[in-house]
Amino acid sequence: MVKFTSVAVALAATITGTSAAFTKACNFPYDVCGWTLTNQEFGYTLATLEAAATAAGQDATNGTILFDTIYNCQADGVIAWNHHCDHGCDASSVVPNANCRAASSS
Ligand SMILES: *[C@@H]1O[C@H](CO)[C@@H](O)[C@H](O)[C@H]1NC(C)=O
Repeated sequence: MVKFTSVAVALAATITGTSAAFTKACNFPYDVCGWTLTNQEFGYTLATLEAAATAAGQDATNGTILFDTIYNCQADGVIAWNHHCDHGCDASSVVPNANCRAASSS
């Protein structure tokens, strides 16, 4: 068996400058909502989301920027902030490929 855990933590730490913490790694090629990443299944910490948002030049103090956002899952559980969803982020399934919700017609 190859040991992935230590590699994942080391890689994430290199990219974000903090050690990423999660229960279950979100891996390529999945796209996941911010609020999905922080749920019990994935267990990513707020600090990990904040670091990903900051790395993408976003305002990490803004909750909607952290949570209503599509993150691209990369190797070893590293996440990359991709884009904010103006109308919320829709997690489609247990193994999600999330999409932004469509604007409600008005
Ligand atoms: C947070 O981000 C949203 C989406 O970009 C924006 O509409 C809102 O004004 C921001 N809130 C603050 C407090 O900056």
